Amino acid sequence: VVLIRDIFRQPDKYINQTIKVDGWVRTVRASKAFGFIELNDGTFFPSLQVVFEESLSNFKDIAKLITGSAIIVEGVLVESPGAKQPFELKAQNIRIEGLSAQDYPLQKKRHSFEFLRTIAHLRPRTNTFSAVFRVRSVVAYAIHKFFQERGFVYVHTPIITGSDAEGAGEMFRVTTLGFDQPPRDGQGKVDFSKDFFGKETNLTVSGQLNVESYCMAFNKVYTFGPTFRAENSNTARHAAEFWMIEPEIAFADLGDNMKLAEEMMKFIIGYVMDTAPEEMNFFNSFMDKSLFSRLENVLQSQFGHITYTDAINELQKSGEKFDYPVEWGQDLQTEHERFLSEKIFAKPVFVTDYPKEIKAFYMRMNEDGRTVAAMDLLAPEVGEIIGGSQREERLDCLVKRMDELGLNQDEYQWYLDIRRYGSARHAGFGLGFERLIMYLTGMTNIRDVISFPRTPKNAEF
Ligand code: 4AD
Ligand code: MG
Repeated sequence: VVLIRDIFRQPDKYINQTIKVDGWVRTVRASKAFGFIELNDGTFFPSLQVVFEESLSNFKDIAKLITGSAIIVEGVLVESPGAKQPFELKAQNIRIEGLSAQDYPLQKKRHSFEFLRTIAHLRPRTNTFSAVFRVRSVVAYAIHKFFQERGFVYVHTPIITGSDAEGAGEMFRVTTLGFDQPPRDGQGKVDFSKDFFGKETNLTVSGQLNVESYCMAFNKVYTFGPTFRAENSNTARHAAEFWMIEPEIAFADLGDNMKLAEEMMKFIIGYVMDTAPEEMNFFNSFMDKSLFSRLENVLQSQFGHITYTDAINELQKSGEKFDYPVEWGQDLQTEHERFLSEKIFAKPVFVTDYPKEIKAFYMRMNEDGRTVAAMDLLAPEVGEIIGGSQREERLDCLVKRMDELGLNQDEYQWYLDIRRYGSARHAGFGLGFERLIMYLTGMTNIRDVISFPRTPKNAEF
């Protein structure tokens, strides 16, 4: 069986040869004497045209095939007289593997993304979602390639954790069904707070703390896995389950961190444009006509840099009316982030040195005692796509900050150990994988770039 991808990439190898392909029917058009099938096997974004003639013994059954049916075609690949495709498969034999039912919900017409979310198990068979998920796969590979080529070690950090990596309390608790001796409280009721075989555990919000400890052994590391946030926000950019890429580098400061992030972003864009040109063309034509110029602009430009304090000043000076107030000490909202990257810089921009109150406990305190060595990368159309920092490597400063925030040191002893045994400057960041895919495709809702989105009230499938 030949992959449709290989036929499109190397037609010369297959032309005038007898080959076999399999896949799912996108459309069938038939007259009395012959017909056409658009066949997609999922390996390539465009479909292959199959021509079939009356001489086939099951001609009538094929002419009646319902979209979605699974078939296997044997035939000769011939140069096509039609202008649309340079070649087509002239069928000698078509085997119907599995008929699709009459109520197949995907029709040739365009369906709304809202509707397609209700059939998340079938939407990968549409052109848009075929392109999205092929790009998602290519980008995941590009990320591994980028880090592996630079000597980073890929660390698998745990999904179930005993500590809150962000100290923000936005966690999903893990409970143990079927645990035969669950801990009981004073009234004899099950104490769910200690439900992981007697310990309180949660789904990870970030692999960072674990990856920091590996950074202090391997120098350059990254993790790439699912993370979970129990934030009940119903936006187009937040999901309760999303994937994050978190590199961490030792003997490095915030400047090194930003350099790495910029290099990575440019590498990914270059790689996906080269590797998935058909999909990217599709997005540029149908999702966002300015996509290519935006991505080109990223490749050509150097990312902007501005401190949080200057950003606040710029936003206040702009005279723009925002829904949320712009005030030193308040976190930037999406509208502010987009204004900065779209209007003020017109390219991705790093905002650095945020007030300590709005950032996590592990960020390195700046000399001023009010701000921390944080960096967010804000991108046009999406807003925050990366969040990172230089870490507090000084044991006394870290302990002091944790005390101020009321964090329980017992839970973080292992994390403090990293500062006790050969502490070194280090920095890292988290790239939101879905936000990156949105940025690269022009898709505007996070629910449409992850296979089975988990958002409030959305956990079927
Ligand atoms: O800014 P965040 O919360 O940073 C961290 O978790 C750090 N521990 C990362 C690190 O330094 N190693 O999250 C990082 C990125 C954000 O910039 C955003 O792109 C994405 O993760 N993100 C989300 N994406 C989708 N849905 C959500 N609910 C997200 N929360 C964060
Ligand atoms: Mg953040």
